[in-house]
Amino acid sequence: MKGLILAGGHGTRLRPLTFTGNKHMIPIANQPILLYGLRHLKEAGIREIAIILGPIQEGIQEAIGDGSIFGLHVEYIVQGEPKGLAHAVLCARSFLADDPFVMYLGDNLLQQGVRPFVERYENSHPDAVIGATPVAEPSHYGVVELDGDRIVSIEEKPKHPKSDLALIGVYLFTPAIHDIIAKLRPSRRGELEITEAIWQFHESGANIAVQRVDGWWKDTGRPEDLLEANEKVLRSLPPGAFERAGTIHASATVRGSVGLGLGAHVDAGATVEGPTVLGQRVGIEGSARIGPSVALGDGVQVRDAWIERSIILEGAQIEGPVHLVDSIVGRHVTLRGGAPGGSPVSLIVGDAARIQL
Ligand code: TTP
Repeated sequence: MKGLILAGGHGTRLRPLTFTGNKHMIPIANQPILLYGLRHLKEAGIREIAIILGPIQEGIQEAIGDGSIFGLHVEYIVQGEPKGLAHAVLCARSFLADDPFVMYLGDNLLQQGVRPFVERYENSHPDAVIGATPVAEPSHYGVVELDGDRIVSIEEKPKHPKSDLALIGVYLFTPAIHDIIAKLRPSRRGELEITEAIWQFHESGANIAVQRVDGWWKDTGRPEDLLEANEKVLRSLPPGAFERAGTIHASATVRGSVGLGLGAHVDAGATVEGPTVLGQRVGIEGSARIGPSVALGDGVQVRDAWIERSIILEGAQIEGPVHLVDSIVGRHVTLRGGAPGGSPVSLIVGDAARIQL
């Protein structure tokens, strides 16, 4: 079994953030999104993985290399212009050879990982396994309509969805899918659609198992999705995942699951509430209040500010009395001011901005 992680795409829904680097490297609970997929594939026993790269590749190969630091063998395949999820599979044709493979959309996070997909395949040998979960707004997703376990229809982003079951970003295919993809025509939006390939595979008589996904699943296409994913991951981390390599002053208050990286410090009078992770060398000073559901990247400094349910990227400096909620603050941003006791603000700030409130 091989693994294919898609980390190409246009990323247009995140582009206004002007974060440098590839969107798949934005940290969730201080780990790049892409590493979650890599870890899930490894947990499912998959060692040979290819990562699909699009036009913005920055940061991916630097962080993952040949995969050996994760005990994996990782190759890179340049798709270039994103011409659809099925087009990415086409680009990986020679890497995938005649092996079954798990395809994982690199901006997706799912609590249960991919092992249930592989087990389903090993137990009953279907031609494909697709994951589905009920969602509130199915028209934003690929939608599968079922009659019992039988697939009735699959449509990509339908205006009038026939069910609330969205296809999640994990698929297992046997190599017979390649013949279907080779004959696919671009859709109205000009992409080779994986949903269309799955539908044609089904129509050709293939046995496609639909795996209901338990636990949460998140497609991190928009800033609010990143914040929700950050909260969900922090809340589901086991207590052992919160390392305490930093120092907490005797008169600081630290409650719940709080991780402190090497050299991080929480000073006298500051408060940190879990689940929250502080990267290496983070400083929490003065009357600062951090958490719950906050991830502060390496080197972040916070003084006298109050931060809840937010992602602050490395090197940012925040000085109160601002009260931030539901915010994403880019790398090396300087953010100062705010009114004492003022209402909370929600900011999405790209890298290197300087803001005086
Ligand atoms: P999408 O969210 O469908 O598309 P996108 O990344 O282009 O983003 P947006 O909708 O904001 O324009 O992509 C799902 C995942 O698949 C994402 O991780 C990027 C990846 N992808 C590819 O690798 N190649 C492709 O051709 C496409 C369309 C997406």
